[in-house]
Amino acid sequence: MTDFKRYLVTAALPYANGPLHIGHLAGCYLPADIYVRYQRARKRDIKFVGGSDEHGVPITIRAMKEGVSPQQIVDKYHAIIRDSLAEMGVSFDIYSRTSSPVHHQTAADFFKKLYDDGLFEEKETEQYYDEKAGLFLADRYITGTCPVCGNANAYGDQCESCGSTLSPEQLINPRSTLSDAIPVKRKTKHWYFPLQNYEEWLRTWILEGHKEWKNNVYGQCKSWLDSGLQPRAMTRDSSWGIKVPLPDAEGKVLYVWFDAPIGYISATKELTPDWQDYWCKEDTKLVHFIGKDNIVFHCIIFPSMLKAHKNFVLPENVPANEFLNIEGDKVSTSRNWAVWVHEYLKDFPGQQDTLRYVLCINAPETKDNDFTWKDFQDRNNSELVAIFGNFINRAMVLMHKLCKGKVPPLHTDILDDTDRALIADIENAKPVIETLLEQFRFRDALYEVIDLARKGNKYMQEKQPWIVARELEKDPQQQKLIDNCLHLCLQLAANLAILINPFLPTTAKKILHLLKVVDKMLDWENAGKLKLLSVGYSLRTPELLFRKIEDEEIAAQIAKLKGGLPQPAAETAPANKNKAGNTPSASTEAQTNAQGTEAALSPVKPTIVYDDFAKLDFKTGVILAAEKVEKADKLLKLEIDLGFEKRTIVSGIALHFTPEEIIGKQVVVVANLAPRKMKGITSNGMILMAEDKEGKLHFVNSPDNVPPGSGVS
Ligand code: 2FM
Ligand code: ZN
Repeated sequence: MTDFKRYLVTAALPYANGPLHIGHLAGCYLPADIYVRYQRARKRDIKFVGGSDEHGVPITIRAMKEGVSPQQIVDKYHAIIRDSLAEMGVSFDIYSRTSSPVHHQTAADFFKKLYDDGLFEEKETEQYYDEKAGLFLADRYITGTCPVCGNANAYGDQCESCGSTLSPEQLINPRSTLSDAIPVKRKTKHWYFPLQNYEEWLRTWILEGHKEWKNNVYGQCKSWLDSGLQPRAMTRDSSWGIKVPLPDAEGKVLYVWFDAPIGYISATKELTPDWQDYWCKEDTKLVHFIGKDNIVFHCIIFPSMLKAHKNFVLPENVPANEFLNIEGDKVSTSRNWAVWVHEYLKDFPGQQDTLRYVLCINAPETKDNDFTWKDFQDRNNSELVAIFGNFINRAMVLMHKLCKGKVPPLHTDILDDTDRALIADIENAKPVIETLLEQFRFRDALYEVIDLARKGNKYMQEKQPWIVARELEKDPQQQKLIDNCLHLCLQLAANLAILINPFLPTTAKKILHLLKVVDKMLDWENAGKLKLLSVGYSLRTPELLFRKIEDEEIAAQIAKLKGGLPQPAAETAPANKNKAGNTPSASTEAQTNAQGTEAALSPVKPTIVYDDFAKLDFKTGVILAAEKVEKADKLLKLEIDLGFEKRTIVSGIALHFTPEEIIGKQVVVVANLAPRKMKGITSNGMILMAEDKEGKLHFVNSPDNVPPGSGVS
């Protein structure tokens, strides 16, 4: 079936036994959200369901470790996880939890139906029991020596050293990981689902019918099927979980991997009375987003349960991601080797899109990948700030400067090959990105969006409307060239909002605000169009979309990860940072003189190429107001008139000038520097200062009679 009428998208239910880390986001929540946002923009009928997985051994173990009840654990972590997901913009239609009464009923009914149909086999077996902890041990909680390679820390289900699949009985000297007690065998009765009866059907359904599934998913399924399936116990001995709905089942609960995926059904039930349309009608496209450790449960066990129950649709695809390591090492919650989402949100307020960007462009789609803070900084600064944000900002700034703040007309009679090539790029991006998104290739799709912005920058660089503007006095007809350039750049900016929206929704909204257009413009069908903005329409003054991330912030995160205390910013600042915290300028370095070192002019920095210089946008300005910044004896907060807008700039000149003496001064401003917060004030640019041998600062004055906002090059 290819003609689907509705979509149902699920993202793995995280265990409510700890907070969410960025590996979770990269593994399934972010890709699921991108897919859903894209399908919503296409106006598909789609539901996105999720929730917390609140049963199972991980919860009881965590409760034991923290000395509280399992209920207290799930209440605490459900709230943290739910809020982290919401703040990261993961746009579930419902985020429920498996402790909900609807879920308990749904899962119990599901089990009862299979039981009534005579599907389960009731078996008594001997299992390991921890007499100290007072519970039966899941295979993962037994360790011992691997009979294959001799590794002394093999688990009851697998040896991570040689990769052998094991059963606890095979371990030499088994011990409980909970109490270190030697586990003893005890008899216990459970209900087994005959997975082996579904093997042939699964072979046909997956290995022949779903060759399009990702290699990692298809490969794991094939290997499970080739090894042969065994009956699987669907109940456990525990007091925490969904009670087995049978009279002779005291102390028995449903196996967490039986109940959790049914959570997708319960959540849909809670969401809409039409839930059966999504679960029972053939023309629904069901897609499960998961991490690679969940593949067997979503591709083999749950589909077999659905098949056995009858009446349910099966997943059309299960796009599982691999794992995201951190700074070259596996995520480990016990070693606290993780980047916690709730902490990121505190440390980088308002910068959800930066994390979304980095986790998508570097997603572990085909293999395990590594997250490093340096890469996070580089991608933010050199891709989001320098390519995407820079393009939108330049288009807006130049439109204000050269086209009176209004969308200029397009003079089709003078379009040249460069214009036509950009038009083709805009039109062609949509089908390419669309195909990649439909194939769950999110990082390639995002790359294409950034590449389109890169093409926009290149186009502007070739057209150089700011140079053309110099000819206007001699030849007013040149305005047409400027109009065409900025008309196309603005239409491209509108297109970029649509294309970036599934990935970076907050950024898309910011662009809409700048362009003064309504949300409706983000409909996917608008992508590729060149008449999204009307000629003559006035647009808002530019605001930067992204801010540069500083070395100090990255050093602090690395220190935090490694368990050390963050270094104070001043001590970690590299040598090319001056005391005012500004990035290098004519006013750098020599304030060391204040500490008594020999007076000297700062040395000439390493040679740069013209392109490096051309990235800087200098503008003339006038200081309108100045005041001291509280608790910062070196900083002044300045209000600068740039002609097309007024800016706040925080400058480290307070030891050299009083606020009163500099009001009205003509200055030169680096106008395209990413905003930066200093003492809680956002500084939007930097003023140029000259510094003499004695370390005294002087303003780099703009020439007389040049109006504010004039370009300096
Ligand atoms: O691996 C996990 O975190 C599981 N809690 C995922 C469950 S997904 C679904 F089946 F609910
Ligand atoms: Zn081994």
